[in-house]
Amino acid sequence: MHLHRYEKWWLTFGTGALVVFLVVIGIGAFHQEHQPPSSVKTINYEQVDKIAPFNEPGLKKVAGKEWEYELVVVASAFYYAPVEAEIPVGSRVKIIATTKDVVHGFEVAGTNINMMLEPGYISEYVTTLNKTGEFLVLCNEYCGTGHHTMKSMIKLVGDE
Ligand code: CUA
Repeated sequence: MHLHRYEKWWLTFGTGALVVFLVVIGIGAFHQEHQPPSSVKTINYEQVDKIAPFNEPGLKKVAGKEWEYELVVVASAFYYAPVEAEIPVGSRVKIIATTKDVVHGFEVAGTNINMMLEPGYISEYVTTLNKTGEFLVLCNEYCGTGHHTMKSMIKLVGDE
């Protein structure tokens, strides 16, 4: 079989691009731990305030799990509960979040935490937060007239 020279170049280029993409995605998924939020747990979004753990939003220390803290977040138009969370730097944290009304976002600026919160679903993300400082939590899903004011703060405190 005869392949034109240019065709060989294109085949090499195409195969090379595919390999590069797979390596980039692989590094993101396995090394940097970018994973899609689970969205496999469901909840009655009209009863969020009465259902544990969302009846008590905030940070809790837990024992006997693969993480040391759980940060329970309830989003609703146009704020988050809690408004602020203080987490010891370097700790392993599971963020457990849901919404009481429409779709909201949960993006922690400067980190790779970025979840979509959908009514009726629980979004979870386990991560280790290694940088001290104040991290703004932003809603990045348009949710109504107060969307641009919707924010909270995560403070990472202690010695790095
Ligand atoms: Cu909540 Cu935008």
